[in-house]
Amino acid sequence: MRSPWTKFVNFVRFPPLNWLLLCFICVIALIVVLGSPSLNTVDPATSNFVVPNIYKSYRKLREQAANEILEIRSLSLGGSHLRELDLCGKERENYVPCYNVTGNLLAGFHDGEEFDRHCEVDGSGPHCLVRPPKDYKIPLRWPAGRDVIWSGNMKITKDQFLSSGSMTKRIMLLEENQIAFHSEDGVNFDSVKDYSRQIAEMIGLGSDSEFLQAGVRTVLDIGCGFGSFGAHLFSLKLMTVCIASYEVFGSQVQLALERGLPAMIGSFFSRQFPYPSLSFDMIHCAQCGIIWDKKDGAFLIEVDRVLRPGGYFVLTSPTNKLQGGLSRARSKIVFAPIEEFSHRICWSLLAQQDDTLIWQKTADLNCYASRSKQEAVPLCKEEFDAEAYYQPLGACISGTTSQRWIPVQNRSQWHDQYQLSMAELAIHGVPVEDFSEDSDVWRSALRNYWSLLTPLIFSDHPKRPGEEDPLPPYNMIRNVMDMNSHYGGLNAAFLEAKKSVWVMNVVPIGTQNTLPLILDRGFAGVLHNWCEPFPTYPRTYDMLHAMGLISHLINSERCDLSNLFLEMDRILRPEGWVVLRDKAAVIEKVRSIVTQIRWDARVIELQSDSDQHLLVCQKPFLKKL
Ligand SMILES: *[C@@H]1O[C@H](CO)[C@@H](O)[C@H](O)[C@H]1NC(C)=O
Ligand SMILES: *[C@@H]1O[C@H](CO)[C@@H](O)[C@H](O)[C@H]1NC(C)=O
Repeated sequence: MRSPWTKFVNFVRFPPLNWLLLCFICVIALIVVLGSPSLNTVDPATSNFVVPNIYKSYRKLREQAANEILEIRSLSLGGSHLRELDLCGKERENYVPCYNVTGNLLAGFHDGEEFDRHCEVDGSGPHCLVRPPKDYKIPLRWPAGRDVIWSGNMKITKDQFLSSGSMTKRIMLLEENQIAFHSEDGVNFDSVKDYSRQIAEMIGLGSDSEFLQAGVRTVLDIGCGFGSFGAHLFSLKLMTVCIASYEVFGSQVQLALERGLPAMIGSFFSRQFPYPSLSFDMIHCAQCGIIWDKKDGAFLIEVDRVLRPGGYFVLTSPTNKLQGGLSRARSKIVFAPIEEFSHRICWSLLAQQDDTLIWQKTADLNCYASRSKQEAVPLCKEEFDAEAYYQPLGACISGTTSQRWIPVQNRSQWHDQYQLSMAELAIHGVPVEDFSEDSDVWRSALRNYWSLLTPLIFSDHPKRPGEEDPLPPYNMIRNVMDMNSHYGGLNAAFLEAKKSVWVMNVVPIGTQNTLPLILDRGFAGVLHNWCEPFPTYPRTYDMLHAMGLISHLINSERCDLSNLFLEMDRILRPEGWVVLRDKAAVIEKVRSIVTQIRWDARVIELQSDSDQHLLVCQKPFLKKL
């Protein structure tokens, strides 16, 4: 007989009630655990349900239950290392570390740099849990949540909302506590659909449903307004990542994430994006507020860096139809310096219509050599490209020596969605067997995780959900972050299983830099140092996943784990999930932290690999009484 795959080990979160009540619960829990009938189990190799070996587990369960009693007792005695953390004050409801503009100004940053990310200025914040605003409501599920959000979840006023300008929006206020987005209405040219069709036509396509065939799969939307352009492109199977500066009120990034659209805080006033070169097929800026010809073209050089060869830069200027005749003259002033500079970096103006201009980056390396000496922006030395983690803006052209220099138009010929061809894997130095094994592992891992995402596992009578228990609905979660994403295998497994999620694939610095591979699969991804806060607003992810991240951090980065878990708690939505997979000893170590931040949690042994444990957690919806 096969041994059971999983077993639930102890460990429930106990609120600091009076000890009599606790003792009562302990007794009940003990009875329940000892009396627990068969646990349904899954064998990871076959994913078949197998009959568990009740008697073998029985003694172990009893021992664990006994251990648990000890722990509960120390909790009720107020063991200081397990004290639950307090909720932060109201002023931290929308706390985003590293973006303290007042502090940055005091530290001497100016000329826009005060809005950049400066984690060193902020120091480590107070040890408390960021709580949701009073009127916070759990967001609606995808796709309903894409079109209707709770206004109480955002730091935004209705006046601001109505007056903020973005041409890629159609909005409508429904009721007192909701904001509805209406991207599909057909009122003349301002609808997002028409705008997207216009762009497709300008690059020579029949309609925007041809973007994929033309090699346009990934879009970086700088300053995305309400994210409606990305939402529309998403329906055409394009991955659009919204990036915008930190904003205190009415943040575009917070809004996009609230709607379930990929987004992160980022700017490039002085430093590069945390993406490698040659990352995106299209870069879009509609009224994104950047003065492109400033800093000797450094902003355009940065766009060029992350743009793939043959990719498109779409710029819609702030001039608009309301200004009538003036608009033409103004757009000349706005566009002329860019047009001049674009020759120096081998872009060509493809089309101009109304207020929208589209340039195309060259797909021909010979172009760079053919520019005249005095006007040419030089090519970068190879080393410059190594790892783009908030490096200073460059003054040279990147990526020209990369094996990833492949025109977007060429890629479309060999593509089968998010899989990679042998040629592409060879470029990344990844053996085909490694890659397909990784895909298989994640396919089966996801099946296992998915059945665990249920409050059943936290009940007094914990059990592995069995065939008789309904699986969570496909759209239970939407915004997922894989904190240590390797090849993006979890992301691929989600898509294959037709779950409603998108994944922010984070590649921690200091690990093998697989981000170029992840981006070449058409996924969203970013480099990140997990000793620092992640550039996002509170309550923006439904699920965080990390395999092996904690042991990596313990071994190499040596940063404060409790700060990391506080940060995870900050970016997680109430009722959101955390799945950690790591060495048993490491999971043991983080258990006490998880108790302090009040997550419900279960340790799950993997029978297939006794050295590895899962920790499945859910963040409760805490409100200040
Ligand atoms: C921002 O920095 C200022 C000045 O250093 C400080 O007084 C303030 O408390 C900081 N705000 C936050 C939210 O940390
Ligand atoms: C792209 O495709 C064209 C036409 O098929 C081919 O001539 C060219 O060499 C390809 N470029 C690269 C970098 O693969």
